Amino acid sequence: MHCTRKITDHIVWVGGSDRRLALFENLFPIPRGVAYNSYLILDDKTAVVDTVDASIGRQFLENIQHALAGRSLDYLVVNHMEPDHCANIEELMLRYPQMKVVGNAKTFGLMQQFYDMDLTDRTVVVKEGEALELGAHTLRFYSTPMVHWPEVMVAYEESQKILFSADAFGSFGALNGCLFNDELDFDRDWLADARRYYGNIVGKYGLQVQAALKKLGGLEIAMICPLHGPVWRSDLGYLLNKYSLWSQYQPEEQAVAIFYGSMYGDTENAANILACKLADAGVKNIAMYDVSSTHVSTLVAEVFRCSHLVLAAPTYNNGLYPAMANFLHDMKALNLQNRTVGLIENGSWAPVSGKTMQAMVGELKGMTLLEPVVTLKSALKGDSMEQLDALAGQIIATLAE
Ligand code: FEO
Repeated sequence: MHCTRKITDHIVWVGGSDRRLALFENLFPIPRGVAYNSYLILDDKTAVVDTVDASIGRQFLENIQHALAGRSLDYLVVNHMEPDHCANIEELMLRYPQMKVVGNAKTFGLMQQFYDMDLTDRTVVVKEGEALELGAHTLRFYSTPMVHWPEVMVAYEESQKILFSADAFGSFGALNGCLFNDELDFDRDWLADARRYYGNIVGKYGLQVQAALKKLGGLEIAMICPLHGPVWRSDLGYLLNKYSLWSQYQPEEQAVAIFYGSMYGDTENAANILACKLADAGVKNIAMYDVSSTHVSTLVAEVFRCSHLVLAAPTYNNGLYPAMANFLHDMKALNLQNRTVGLIENGSWAPVSGKTMQAMVGELKGMTLLEPVVTLKSALKGDSMEQLDALAGQIIATLAE
């Protein structure tokens, strides 16, 4: 049975949510599920903006059939060719044989790579700034390459001032009936997943996000309709400010996050003592994560949030504890920058994890490494406590800057 929401009098949300999928991209845990948004515009011509993942294909097709109310479908706009939005292109082509598929040259290149569809006489190729007239509604297309794939474009509906933004401004999380940002508590229930989505899916492409924000900055936007998560129809400045900070790799908060790996609890003990010293000195809302038991996508999201990071890890195989090495590898892959970092190393006979972490952090742009690196030899003892006090002092001093 259909399950739709009204966006405007003539635009219908025809997407759906998947709460069964455990790992988005078979990689990222999504305990709150994920939504795949799609939008149907009803005018002299009818147009769907992007399709959905295969997992909710049946729901999507029922939604479209219901919302069309017996009308035909004239256009399918493909803003993004990743399969979580493209799995139903062929089905729509079969069901609506007069329907044309709208995309750019790169869109159709990828379409041929993924699928074996006969696109003869079925395509409308649009270029930067070109428009598709539907009647009272006009979709104008702007390319936003590498946000986060090369073919990505966004569609701006001029009469209602709606930006169909592809993956940009999206979030992990299934929609629980409430579709619009003013129907839900975004800060409480969505921000962490929106940050985790941005950081891990789009985070590497900060420069391209900034270019897109600049290109679209001249548009008057009343509503943002992304492909995942809530639709934004109020407080757009809040969301744009987050994207501005994230894309410039600037922290959202002056805050400390401690990330530790620990085989037998001794490195964890040092991390706990440091946290207590910081709290004693008045530092609030300290976050702490065991890198072995916390998914790296959550760790990455916390780097996007916090100004100060403490990395604490044992030496392992004459190198760095693997879970911490994986975290730092992800930080490099996602281009993370501009943080203040303290280090705690541990090694019972030849500690080298500090040196390895220093080198890996040194490969990231704009990072400030605090002194001293705290060295534990198996467990925290007197000399190391002095180093820990000094590191706490440095963190407190730089937090206040
Ligand atoms: Fe939601 Fe890049 O696909």
